[in-house]
Amino acid sequence: MSKQRILTGITTTGTPHLGNYVGAIRPAIEASHDSNNLSFYFLADFHALIKCHDPALVHQSTREIAATWLALGLNTDNVVFYRQSDVPEIPELCWMLNCMAAKGLMNRAHAYKASVAANEEAGEDPDFGVTMGLYSYPVLMAADILMFNANKVPVGKDQIQHVEMARDIAARFNHHYGTHFVLPEATVDDDVAVLQGLDGRKMSKSYGNTIPLFLDEKPLKKHINKVKTNLLEPGEPKDTADSTVFQLWQAFATPEQTQYMREQFAAGIAWGEAKKQLHELINGQLCEAREKYAELLSNPTHIENELQKGAEKARSYSVPFLKELRSAVGIKPIV
Ligand code: TRP
Repeated sequence: MSKQRILTGITTTGTPHLGNYVGAIRPAIEASHDSNNLSFYFLADFHALIKCHDPALVHQSTREIAATWLALGLNTDNVVFYRQSDVPEIPELCWMLNCMAAKGLMNRAHAYKASVAANEEAGEDPDFGVTMGLYSYPVLMAADILMFNANKVPVGKDQIQHVEMARDIAARFNHHYGTHFVLPEATVDDDVAVLQGLDGRKMSKSYGNTIPLFLDEKPLKKHINKVKTNLLEPGEPKDTADSTVFQLWQAFATPEQTQYMREQFAAGIAWGEAKKQLHELINGQLCEAREKYAELLSNPTHIENELQKGAEKARSYSVPFLKELRSAVGIKPIV
């Protein structure tokens, strides 16, 4: 039986935060150690251009995210780790898929609809500030996924719709041109798929409520101290269900440690003490990788070499597959 193909992309805008780590990076790195899988992890720098028009930021973020994955122990011999823009077959496939994707399907994409809704609320033209990049972003994502015939796509809940759209587009292509694509499935880890941020909403760069992944020990402490809590005093029992402190704890703890903290909450642990322990837990798990990260950033040549190696591996799949697809749609030599 051929290996399960797992693929996931991370958009290169901003600095990775704990939410990215828990929701995407950590499970991906864990899966990468399973030799029953063939994993593709990539830096989605073409996607970055949708949201970010500052070249220095796109570049810096690409470098930081690559360093993050390498620092956290990604085994690049076992997985294909590459930069989207190093695989020119992806934008070419994207065009073919654009010609199969229904416009009506794109009209329903959450990201686009959210922009339109915000414009309508502000009394603007519905398409104000909406680029074709934003509008057709699910098609690019479909190209990312279908290029490597991924079976499983681990994503956050907000991305499920996009994977379903990739499936739709793939089915339509297969129906029309013959079966070339595997129909991908989104996988979401229900326990910790969406980490809460400082204010209790989903941790997200767009809310400005994140805890960056590789903060030094002290700034990390400062951030954790800012996590929103209620006004319950020490000694008063606290509810784990609506607590961001508890949720963060659970995302890093073993089941035993989670049980321990549950008991502490019931016994009325002070918020200050809970945060102190949370800081120790998170810092302890990240401090080694943080050092490695600093080392990598001071020697970016190593990062670039890894990406080049990954691009070569990625293209060993994409080049022959694109040739097949070109032929399927009728783009091939005259004789
Ligand atoms: N759009 C995804 C995000 O913002 C990142 C991404 C791009 C992706 N291409 C992908 C994820 C392909 C999974 C598969 O999180």
